[in-house]
Amino acid sequence: MTSLDVDPGLTRHARRALQASGQQPDVVCADGAGGWRPNAPYDRIIATCSVRTVPLPWLEQTVTGGLLVIPWDTPWCNFGTLIATKQADGTAEGVLAPYGAFMLMRAQRVDVELHRDVLRDGQNPALSVTELSPWSVAGTDLDAQLHIGLRVPGTWHAWDTEVDAAHTRLWLADDEVVHAYEGYVAAGRPGVPRHRLRISPDGSGTRLQVAL
Ligand SMILES: C[S@@+](CC[C@H](N)C(=O)[O-])C[C@H]1O[C@@H](n2cnc3c(N)ncnc32)[C@H](O)[C@@H]1O
Repeated sequence: MTSLDVDPGLTRHARRALQASGQQPDVVCADGAGGWRPNAPYDRIIATCSVRTVPLPWLEQTVTGGLLVIPWDTPWCNFGTLIATKQADGTAEGVLAPYGAFMLMRAQRVDVELHRDVLRDGQNPALSVTELSPWSVAGTDLDAQLHIGLRVPGTWHAWDTEVDAAHTRLWLADDEVVHAYEGYVAAGRPGVPRHRLRISPDGSGTRLQVAL
């Protein structure tokens, strides 16, 4: 068994805690994006941080038939855990289980803040109008949020209460959300486990395909 974290302090703590509980895994301090080739291949890779794209080494270092358990994140929402099986053709396929919400893997974090980086004095953003309630796409319906996050993967939103003219405003940093929500309703409002993900090697990274 191998346990890995990028934080040296946490790695030291994990080593002591695991030894005290009678476990003897290799505890490694490294960037998890590279997996850990010296002990590969693995029957299971279990991530305790979320990702937006699966690092290629995780696919490569899992045996055929092995399991990858990966909390999922999109800029739209952090929700769901992928449970995928490594296939003989080098891909991995599986469905999402609800409720995973882990911190995003460090290398995949994008540092964007609405008021610091996006809104500027004198800016005239393109205006579009929809009758869709902002709460239907960014409220408590996490099935809808997950679906939108997978269908429009680059899109993010921010709730903004620092406005005079409106009680609340939902800023979208992209469009297509209405179409994604309409697709969600047309598909019968699929719950998280109806989303099937396929991860394939693609150059030095991986490609994601989503099906219902
Ligand atoms: C929710 S904590 C889980 C900690 C511990 N594994 C556990 O299960 O209690 C997420 C951990 O992911 C680690 N992490 C984030 N990005 C990482 C990366 N690129 N490589 C390795 N570890 C990373 C963080 O340092 C943090 O300790």
